[in-house]
Amino acid sequence: MSQPTGNVVVIDHPLVQHKLTLMRKRETSTASFRRLLREISLLMAYEVTRDLPLTTEEIETPIAPMQAPVLAGKKLCLVSILRAGNGILDGMLDLLPSARVGHIGLYRDPQTLEPVEYYCKVPEDVGDRLAIAVDPMLATAGSMIATVDLLKRKGCRDIRALVLVAAPEGVKALTAAHPEVRCWTAAIDSHLNEVGYIIPGLGDAGDKIFGTKG
Ligand code: PRP
Ligand code: URA
Repeated sequence: MSQPTGNVVVIDHPLVQHKLTLMRKRETSTASFRRLLREISLLMAYEVTRDLPLTTEEIETPIAPMQAPVLAGKKLCLVSILRAGNGILDGMLDLLPSARVGHIGLYRDPQTLEPVEYYCKVPEDVGDRLAIAVDPMLATAGSMIATVDLLKRKGCRDIRALVLVAAPEGVKALTAAHPEVRCWTAAIDSHLNEVGYIIPGLGDAGDKIFGTKG
Protein backbone atom coordinates (compact mmCIF):
# COMPACT_ATOMS: atom_id res chain seq x y z
CA MET A 1 0.00 0.00 0.00
CA SER A 2 1.43 3.39 -0.95
CA GLN A 3 1.77 6.19 1.58
CA PRO A 4 -1.45 8.17 1.87
CA THR A 5 -1.51 11.53 0.05
CA GLY A 6 -3.65 13.66 2.31
CA ASN A 7 -6.76 11.59 2.93
CA VAL A 8 -6.28 9.26 -0.01
CA VAL A 9 -4.64 5.85 0.03
CA VAL A 10 -3.71 4.41 -3.36
CA ILE A 11 -3.72 0.61 -3.17
CA ASP A 12 -0.70 -0.26 -5.27
CA HIS A 13 -0.72 -4.03 -4.65
CA PRO A 14 0.39 -5.72 -7.91
CA LEU A 15 -2.71 -7.94 -8.09
CA VAL A 16 -4.99 -4.91 -7.74
CA GLN A 17 -3.07 -2.99 -10.39
CA HIS A 18 -3.05 -5.94 -12.83
CA LYS A 19 -6.78 -6.58 -12.43
CA LEU A 20 -7.57 -2.89 -12.86
CA THR A 21 -5.68 -2.85 -16.16
CA LEU A 22 -7.75 -5.79 -17.41
CA MET A 23 -10.92 -3.97 -16.36
CA ARG A 24 -9.93 -0.82 -18.22
CA LYS A 25 -9.57 -2.58 -21.60
CA ARG A 26 -12.29 -1.67 -24.09
CA GLU A 27 -12.70 -5.31 -25.17
CA THR A 28 -13.23 -6.72 -21.64
CA SER A 29 -16.58 -8.53 -21.60
CA THR A 30 -19.34 -7.94 -19.05
CA ALA A 31 -18.69 -11.38 -17.55
CA SER A 32 -14.96 -10.70 -17.14
CA PHE A 33 -15.56 -7.18 -15.83
CA ARG A 34 -17.91 -8.50 -13.12
CA ARG A 35 -15.55 -11.28 -12.11
CA LEU A 36 -12.58 -8.92 -11.93
CA LEU A 37 -14.57 -6.36 -9.93
CA ARG A 38 -15.52 -9.04 -7.42
CA GLU A 39 -11.89 -10.17 -7.09
CA ILE A 40 -10.45 -6.66 -6.85
CA SER A 41 -13.11 -5.63 -4.31
CA LEU A 42 -12.10 -8.48 -2.03
CA LEU A 43 -8.48 -7.32 -2.20
CA MET A 44 -9.47 -3.71 -1.56
CA ALA A 45 -11.63 -4.78 1.39
CA TYR A 46 -8.48 -6.26 2.87
CA GLU A 47 -6.72 -2.88 2.66
CA VAL A 48 -9.59 -0.69 3.87
CA THR A 49 -9.94 -2.83 7.01
CA ARG A 50 -6.21 -3.14 7.65
CA ASP A 51 -6.24 -0.95 10.77
CA LEU A 52 -9.38 -2.27 12.46
CA PRO A 53 -8.69 -2.66 16.17
CA LEU A 54 -8.22 -6.10 17.71
CA THR A 55 -8.87 -7.45 21.16
CA THR A 56 -8.32 -10.96 22.48
CA GLU A 57 -10.61 -13.69 23.71
CA GLU A 58 -9.94 -16.89 25.56
CA ILE A 59 -10.35 -19.95 23.31
CA GLU A 60 -9.41 -23.60 23.51
CA THR A 61 -7.43 -25.17 20.70
CA PRO A 62 -7.44 -29.00 20.59
CA ILE A 63 -4.19 -28.82 22.58
CA ALA A 64 -4.32 -25.83 24.93
CA PRO A 65 -6.17 -22.68 25.95
CA MET A 66 -4.95 -19.40 24.49
CA GLN A 67 -5.76 -15.70 24.26
CA ALA A 68 -6.57 -15.28 20.56
CA PRO A 69 -7.08 -12.08 18.54
CA VAL A 70 -10.58 -11.09 17.36
CA LEU A 71 -11.99 -7.88 15.92
CA ALA A 72 -12.84 -5.39 18.63
CA GLY A 73 -15.75 -3.06 19.11
CA LYS A 74 -17.08 -1.42 16.04
CA LYS A 75 -19.15 -3.32 13.57
CA LEU A 76 -19.21 -2.51 9.88
CA CYS A 77 -21.79 -1.24 7.49
CA LEU A 78 -21.02 -1.26 3.78
CA VAL A 79 -22.96 1.41 1.92
CA SER A 80 -23.42 0.83 -1.79
CA ILE A 81 -23.99 3.83 -4.03
CA LEU A 82 -26.42 2.45 -6.60
CA ARG A 83 -26.19 1.13 -8.94
CA ALA A 84 -22.50 0.53 -9.70
CA GLY A 85 -21.60 0.25 -5.99
CA ASN A 86 -23.39 -3.12 -5.99
CA GLY A 87 -20.61 -4.47 -8.17
CA ILE A 88 -18.19 -3.86 -5.32
CA LEU A 89 -20.43 -5.31 -2.59
CA ASP A 90 -20.14 -8.94 -3.65
CA GLY A 91 -16.37 -9.12 -3.31
CA MET A 92 -16.36 -7.21 -0.05
CA LEU A 93 -19.04 -9.46 1.43
CA ASP A 94 -16.95 -12.51 0.51
CA LEU A 95 -14.42 -11.18 3.01
CA LEU A 96 -16.83 -9.49 5.46
CA PRO A 97 -19.83 -11.84 5.52
CA SER A 98 -21.33 -10.34 8.70
CA ALA A 99 -21.22 -6.73 7.56
CA ARG A 100 -24.53 -4.90 7.41
CA VAL A 101 -25.39 -3.27 4.07
CA GLY A 102 -27.04 0.03 3.19
CA HIS A 103 -28.10 1.21 -0.27
CA ILE A 104 -28.20 4.78 -1.47
CA GLY A 105 -29.69 5.39 -4.90
CA LEU A 106 -28.08 8.28 -6.74
CA TYR A 107 -27.64 9.09 -10.38
CA ARG A 108 -25.76 11.95 -11.96
CA ASP A 109 -27.92 14.36 -13.87
CA PRO A 110 -26.20 14.22 -17.28
CA GLN A 111 -26.54 18.01 -17.77
CA THR A 112 -25.57 19.39 -14.38
CA LEU A 113 -23.54 16.34 -13.17
CA GLU A 114 -25.27 16.91 -9.80
CA PRO A 115 -26.34 13.76 -7.90
CA VAL A 116 -30.08 13.06 -7.73
CA GLU A 117 -31.24 10.83 -4.85
CA TYR A 118 -33.93 8.23 -5.58
CA TYR A 119 -33.52 5.63 -2.82
CA CYS A 120 -32.13 5.26 0.69
CA LYS A 121 -32.22 2.25 2.99
CA VAL A 122 -29.58 1.89 5.67
CA PRO A 123 -29.52 -0.14 8.91
CA GLU A 124 -31.25 1.61 11.84
CA ASP A 125 -28.06 1.49 13.90
CA VAL A 126 -25.78 2.73 11.09
CA GLY A 127 -24.68 5.58 13.37
CA ASP A 128 -23.00 3.07 15.70
CA ARG A 129 -21.01 1.47 12.92
CA LEU A 130 -17.98 2.17 10.79
CA ALA A 131 -19.59 3.02 7.44
CA ILE A 132 -17.66 2.25 4.26
CA ALA A 133 -19.26 3.91 1.23
CA VAL A 134 -18.43 2.03 -1.97
CA ASP A 135 -18.63 3.08 -5.60
CA PRO A 136 -16.29 2.16 -8.49
CA MET A 137 -15.94 5.77 -9.71
CA LEU A 138 -15.09 9.04 -7.94
CA ALA A 139 -15.42 11.59 -10.74
CA THR A 140 -16.67 15.02 -9.58
CA ALA A 141 -17.27 13.32 -6.18
CA GLY A 142 -20.79 14.74 -6.13
CA SER A 143 -22.25 11.25 -5.48
CA MET A 144 -19.78 10.40 -2.71
CA ILE A 145 -20.17 13.81 -1.03
CA ALA A 146 -23.97 13.45 -1.08
CA THR A 147 -23.64 9.94 0.39
CA VAL A 148 -21.38 11.13 3.21
CA ASP A 149 -23.76 14.05 3.88
CA LEU A 150 -26.64 11.60 4.16
CA LEU A 151 -24.71 9.19 6.41
CA LYS A 152 -23.77 12.07 8.70
CA ARG A 153 -27.45 13.06 8.92
CA LYS A 154 -28.13 9.44 9.99
CA GLY A 155 -25.63 9.84 12.83
CA CYS A 156 -22.48 8.26 11.34
CA ARG A 157 -19.27 9.62 12.80
CA ASP A 158 -16.81 7.16 11.31
CA ILE A 159 -17.02 7.05 7.52
CA ARG A 160 -14.61 5.75 4.88
CA ALA A 161 -14.86 5.79 1.10
CA LEU A 162 -13.68 3.00 -1.19
CA VAL A 163 -13.54 3.54 -4.94
CA LEU A 164 -11.76 1.82 -7.80
CA VAL A 165 -10.74 4.83 -9.90
CA ALA A 166 -10.65 8.47 -8.80
CA ALA A 167 -10.17 11.73 -10.65
CA PRO A 168 -7.92 14.36 -9.04
CA GLU A 169 -10.88 16.78 -9.18
CA GLY A 170 -12.99 14.34 -7.15
CA VAL A 171 -10.28 13.73 -4.58
CA LYS A 172 -9.94 17.48 -4.09
CA ALA A 173 -13.69 18.02 -3.78
CA LEU A 174 -14.21 15.14 -1.33
CA THR A 175 -11.31 16.32 0.82
CA ALA A 176 -12.67 19.88 0.85
CA ALA A 177 -16.21 18.78 1.73
CA HIS A 178 -15.34 16.05 4.26
CA PRO A 179 -11.70 16.40 5.34
CA GLU A 180 -11.95 13.62 7.94
CA VAL A 181 -13.21 10.98 5.47
CA ARG A 182 -10.37 8.81 4.22
CA CYS A 183 -10.63 7.38 0.71
CA TRP A 184 -9.05 4.18 -0.63
CA THR A 185 -8.63 3.83 -4.39
CA ALA A 186 -6.69 1.68 -6.85
CA ALA A 187 -5.81 4.67 -9.05
CA ILE A 188 -5.93 8.43 -9.34
CA ASP A 189 -6.25 9.10 -13.05
CA SER A 190 -5.38 12.17 -15.13
CA HIS A 191 -8.49 14.37 -15.25
CA LEU A 192 -12.21 14.64 -16.03
CA ASN A 193 -13.37 15.31 -19.57
CA GLU A 194 -15.98 17.91 -20.49
CA VAL A 195 -18.86 15.52 -19.72
CA GLY A 196 -17.50 14.42 -16.36
CA TYR A 197 -15.91 11.11 -17.36
CA ILE A 198 -12.62 10.04 -15.86
CA ILE A 199 -9.72 10.04 -18.34
CA PRO A 200 -8.38 7.44 -19.05
CA GLY A 201 -10.81 5.74 -16.62
CA LEU A 202 -12.70 2.62 -17.63
CA GLY A 203 -15.88 4.05 -19.15
CA ASP A 204 -19.29 3.95 -17.49
CA ALA A 205 -18.93 1.53 -14.60
CA GLY A 206 -22.67 0.81 -14.28
CA ASP A 207 -22.99 0.01 -17.97
CA LYS A 208 -19.90 -2.23 -17.83
CA ILE A 209 -21.19 -4.18 -14.82
CA PHE A 210 -24.78 -4.57 -15.93
CA GLY A 211 -24.29 -4.62 -19.72
CA THR A 212 -26.78 -1.83 -20.26
CA LYS A 213 -25.05 -0.30 -23.28
CA GLY A 214 -23.62 -1.74 -26.45
C1 PRP B 1 -21.56 6.85 -11.72
C2 PRP B 1 -20.67 6.17 -10.71
C3 PRP B 1 -20.76 7.09 -9.52
C4 PRP B 1 -20.89 8.45 -10.17
C5 PRP B 1 -19.57 9.13 -10.09
O1 PRP B 1 -22.88 6.57 -11.45
O2 PRP B 1 -21.05 4.86 -10.41
O3 PRP B 1 -21.87 6.83 -8.69
O4 PRP B 1 -21.25 8.23 -11.54
O5 PRP B 1 -19.66 10.43 -10.56
P1 PRP B 1 -19.50 11.70 -9.61
O6 PRP B 1 -18.29 11.46 -8.77
O7 PRP B 1 -19.31 12.82 -10.60
O8 PRP B 1 -20.74 11.84 -8.78
P2 PRP B 1 -24.09 7.09 -12.37
O9 PRP B 1 -24.57 8.41 -11.90
O10 PRP B 1 -23.68 7.00 -13.81
O11 PRP B 1 -25.25 6.09 -12.02
P3 PRP B 1 -25.32 4.49 -12.20
O12 PRP B 1 -24.46 3.88 -11.12
O13 PRP B 1 -26.76 4.23 -11.99
O14 PRP B 1 -24.84 4.13 -13.57
N1 URA C 1 -19.16 7.53 -13.82
C1 URA C 1 -18.63 6.49 -14.48
O1 URA C 1 -19.20 5.40 -14.50
N2 URA C 1 -17.48 6.68 -15.15
C2 URA C 1 -16.83 7.86 -15.15
O2 URA C 1 -15.76 7.96 -15.77
C3 URA C 1 -17.39 8.93 -14.45
C4 URA C 1 -18.56 8.74 -13.79
